Amino acid sequence: MKVTVVGAGAVGATCADNIARAALAEELVLLDIKEGLAEGKAQDMMQTAALLEFDTRITGSTNDYSKTANSDVVVITSGLPRKPGMTREELIGTNAGIVKGVTENILKHSPNAILIIISNPMDTMTYLALTSTGLPKNRIIGMGGALDSARFRYQLSQQLGCSPADLNAVVVGGHGDTTMIPLIRLATWNSVPVTKFLSEAQQQQVVADTMVGGATLTKLIGTSAWYAPGAAGAAMVEAIVRDEKKLFTCCVSLNGEYGQKDICLGVPVVIGRNGWEKILDFGLNADEQALFAKSAAAVRSMNDVLKTL
Ligand code: 2OP
Repeated sequence: MKVTVVGAGAVGATCADNIARAALAEELVLLDIKEGLAEGKAQDMMQTAALLEFDTRITGSTNDYSKTANSDVVVITSGLPRKPGMTREELIGTNAGIVKGVTENILKHSPNAILIIISNPMDTMTYLALTSTGLPKNRIIGMGGALDSARFRYQLSQQLGCSPADLNAVVVGGHGDTTMIPLIRLATWNSVPVTKFLSEAQQQQVVADTMVGGATLTKLIGTSAWYAPGAAGAAMVEAIVRDEKKLFTCCVSLNGEYGQKDICLGVPVVIGRNGWEKILDFGLNADEQALFAKSAAAVRSMNDVLKTL
């Protein structure tokens, strides 16, 4: 398998490092527009091979897309990260042009690639990739819910004093501080609803902390987080290259599911070798469905901004 990660910043490099360590691809290309950055980080990662004993061949490229030719999966992280106090949506003016150009260049050399979009505002960048390329919708997957669900499980584990691995909890809707929907009603601690163990106030706190999980870290670090985003992207690559049929909540094109059309939004999907293979209906209740519709409206208004750029 060949995987390309576009963007050798913190998220892209972390994603590539996770891919290499898990030996998810024989060939891994890291590409960036900044002279030498991708080459340097690729070489640094390759120098861990002797220590970590992986055989992935990692190469870096400064904006030479021919090096990415025939990639099976491409992870797109390029664009600006947010700064403290910024919303992901504020990045649209800069990142839309970058993501459009990157997808065009990638598909010139890898027409059959599955694209994983991480660049923010991710829901709108995913919609842009879908509408500007015309690729089959199953081959365009936005990474947001996988990260937000991991953060949701972290917040629950802190409240419950348990292992995040024992928790099953998902976030649907947009990947925005006000558009994501942690589904606490459906969250379980080893098959038992977490609502049995948490007061209403604790449940609301976990949901609130999850929604601003990214912004909280940006405030602490001074830029967007990268360990969990990078690991979430790599987990999706793994589900594709190993045909795991794994369930994630991902931003995908909806055609009536969850009451929405002509939008890309986070819903539960099965991921395998063909990209996202099916959307699952989790049976949202009226309140959750109302939140989903509100989330969709907010993302749709961001998508409309694309027409003005
Ligand atoms: C985050 O929430 C980068 O959007 C990503 O950290």
